[in-house]
Parts: sequence; C-alpha cells; structure tokens
Amino acid sequence: MLVRPALLPSWPPSPSDLFGREGPLVLEVGFGDGRFTAELAQTHPGWLILGAEVSAASVLRALKRLRRAGLANVRLYHGEGPFALRNLVPPRGLHQVIVNFPDPWPKKRHQRKRLLQEGFFRRLSTRLEEGGSLRLTTDHEAYFRFALEEAERTGLYRIHVEPPPEAHLRTKYALKWKEAGRPFFHAVFTKVAEDPTPWPPTRRYPMAHALLAGDLPESLPLGKEPIPFPGGVAVFLEVARGETGFYILTHVEEEELTQDLLLEVRPSAHGIYAGASRFASPLLTEGVKAAVRALVARLTALGLEVVQDHT
Ligand SMILES: C[S@@+](CC[C@H](N)C(=O)[O-])C[C@H]1O[C@@H](n2cnc3c(N)ncnc32)[C@H](O)[C@@H]1O
Repeated sequence: MLVRPALLPSWPPSPSDLFGREGPLVLEVGFGDGRFTAELAQTHPGWLILGAEVSAASVLRALKRLRRAGLANVRLYHGEGPFALRNLVPPRGLHQVIVNFPDPWPKKRHQRKRLLQEGFFRRLSTRLEEGGSLRLTTDHEAYFRFALEEAERTGLYRIHVEPPPEAHLRTKYALKWKEAGRPFFHAVFTKVAEDPTPWPPTRRYPMAHALLAGDLPESLPLGKEPIPFPGGVAVFLEVARGETGFYILTHVEEEELTQDLLLEVRPSAHGIYAGASRFASPLLTEGVKAAVRALVARLTALGLEVVQDHT
C-alpha cells in the first residue's frame, strides 16, 4: 500500500506496476488524515488513487484508516506531491488531480513554497490525459486567486470556478474551517493544451559505486562541507565504523527529493567498495552519484586507486 520508488520495476511506473491493474489514475496531493482519500476510493472502486503526503504522521494515520477499510485501490507515497507528479505517473496518464486545502503560505516571502505555481501547472499539463483536470478546494481566498493566476499564465487550462462538491467539504480541514465559519473556494482546471517542454523523470542509475585498490584506511575523516552538484547539494553528516568498514550517513537534496542514505566503504572480493548501501533502498539519482564521486575523491586523496568506476 505504501509506494517505495526505488523498488518499482519501471520508471515512471505504469498503473499496473503500482496497483496490479489498469484504470483511471487519480492523484491526491496532501491527503492529510486520508478520510477524503478513503471515501473517494469507496465511491469509485474502479479508480486507482495515488496519494502523496509529506507528513509522516499523516501517512501513518491514513495507512491505518485505509487498511481498516480494506481498500485495494489506493497507494500512498510519503513525499512531495511534485515529485510524485513528475516521477510516479506516466505522461498523459492522469485522469484527475485533487488538492484539498493546500498549505496557504500566506507570507509574501513564503509564497515560493506554494504547491500550485506556474511550474507545477506546466508539468501537470504533461501528465494529465486529454481533458483531465485538477480540482482545488481551499478556504484561503488569496491562495485561490494566486492559483488561478498561475494557471491562467500558462494558457494550458480552461478554468471553472464553481461551488465545491459536498465530498470535498468533509475533509478534516474542511470541517475545521466550516466550524470557524470560513468561506470555501473551488476551481476545476481542465487541460486544453500541453506544455511543449519535455519533463523527463528523474533519472535512476542502476549503480552508484566504485572499486578501489589499496588498504581500508584506519579512519575516514570526511568534512561536513556541502558538496554541490547541478540541481542540488549533498553533505556527509557522520561516519561510523562498522565490523568490516565504514558507513557514512549522507544527506542529498535534489529537486523535489531529499534523501538520507548510507554510503559504505568496505573490502569486497574485487577491492575496496565505495558506494551506496542498499539499506533503506535509496533512489540512485544524480545527487547520490555526486556524493559517491566526492567520497571516492576523498579515498583517492588517502592513497587508494580507482580500478572500476560506476559513478
Ligand atoms: C492543510 S492540510 C490539508 C489536509 C487534507 N487535504 C484536508 O483537507 O484535511 C495540507 C496538507 O498538505 C500536506 N502537504 C504540504 N505540502 C505538500 C507537498 N508538497 N506534497 C505533499 N503534501 C504536502 C501537509 O503535510 C498537510 O497534510
């Protein structure tokens, strides 16, 4: 029920990879406690519903709810909605996107954190099927106007402002704001054209390691200075000595994706292995490869020699 991107057989996955069958694919971004998701899945048993949510506590709450309800047509992804949109749905594969009560980020300096921005709408146009749509419900008029303007600027949508469907007013936040007497705003953004810029999904690499000749160093001093690469930054947070080698806790930030993963330096049959550990199944992205390259550079500075480079 929980989507683990690194374990998916294809990239981006097909609905069959995720759900074991085909059907209209619906993405809900920021599902919170999942009560709307559960109701949607029950009302439309033929739909395949993919939820993306950044809060771990919310994902757990929603998972419990969906398991209790025994729903087989929902998959949850713990992470950023834009990442799911870009990497977990095929081009023109989405029937609908639902965003209920997105975080409004009301302060001017925080507006860049808003979900529904021009870039999101552009990418969305490449993922929605012909005539597919996004439904937004919010209590925040300034955010609502902002989203309308951002979408209008793309020229890729027909926008309909209409009263929210009843089901969208039964989410946790809808009930909270109803009690507070707040107004509700709803719009349907229907795709009429597609952004011409291709949006390839994040590349995954089958390997991110090198083999080196030489002795395992006694200690592995790695500074905490940032390791920049095009589109992101990595940092070695901590080095721990294991039974056979070293584990390096590494933080990698890339567009829409942040991973904390382990790199390893240990003896292997073919030399000293320096690369990503399989622990926690990290996505082997360009950022992870950049971190491995930086690790290999530190090892060569300690006198080891690269014999195979898969970075
Ligand atoms: C105000 S709550 C609304 C929750 C739910 N939709 C409801 O109506 O009760 C906004 C939710 O969006 C989630 N969220 C914020 N930014 C997100 C993003 N970029 N991707 C996925 N979820 C996000 C938050 O963690 C939070 O659960």
